Amino acid sequence: MQVIICESPEQVGSRAADIIEVRVRQGPAVLGLATGSSPSGTYRELIRRHREEQLSFSDATAFTLDEYAGLPLDHDQSYHSTIRREFVDHVDLPLSRLLTPHGDAEDLRAEAVRYDEAIREAGGVDIQILGIGANGHIGFNEPTSSLNSRTRVKTLAGATRSDNARFFPGGEVPQLCLTQGLGTIREAHQAVLVALGANKAGAVRAMVEGPVSAFCPASVLQLHPRAVVVLDPEAASQLQ
Ligand code: F6R
Repeated sequence: MQVIICESPEQVGSRAADIIEVRVRQGPAVLGLATGSSPSGTYRELIRRHREEQLSFSDATAFTLDEYAGLPLDHDQSYHSTIRREFVDHVDLPLSRLLTPHGDAEDLRAEAVRYDEAIREAGGVDIQILGIGANGHIGFNEPTSSLNSRTRVKTLAGATRSDNARFFPGGEVPQLCLTQGLGTIREAHQAVLVALGANKAGAVRAMVEGPVSAFCPASVLQLHPRAVVVLDPEAASQLQ
């Protein structure tokens, strides 16, 4: 695991974008996209490079990491809509190649299996972009998730539902989600995890310096041959 400590959140976005840009310029790339606040600076920087430096995503394919169950793709708070708003609608990645688990599928378990197979059929994810939860989750793999898990239906942790309640004013935060599993994420050829802010410092320490353990799902990246963790000084503040 390579750890890069940057001087500012802007530098984190730029450093993570550098890694993604290298792969995208090499030819058709399969990207794994996380939502949330952590990678938003990275997406902003990739959009800027698309607009100002001819970085093209026209040959790329993207798989989102997770999705709420029960929401149609076009729901304002679905991760499909979110990743469109934050990234995909601002670059030239064809919408037909933005793939998301369908949270409104009648048979969620079958949908999870289908999604996992679709990733395999695409040749696997070339670069998986990740954020980390304050409890060490990646995707929606909450603590105690199996390190070998595949894409599946999960119950959202109470803490995660409270964290995300701000996005559902007056409405219920979904109770279930579909998420790529830790085994699925581990198969990405490269992983770039971005963490910002002091509230991630404990999780970052557990991920980088703690034991590989289902109690900190992100620690599974210690086993990944090409995982890069890009941090701002606050997120890095508890590293020894
Ligand atoms: C979202 C996802 C989550 C987030 C994590 C951090 O697709 O995979 O694991 O990356 O909850 O969220 P933020 O970045 O909003 O703190």
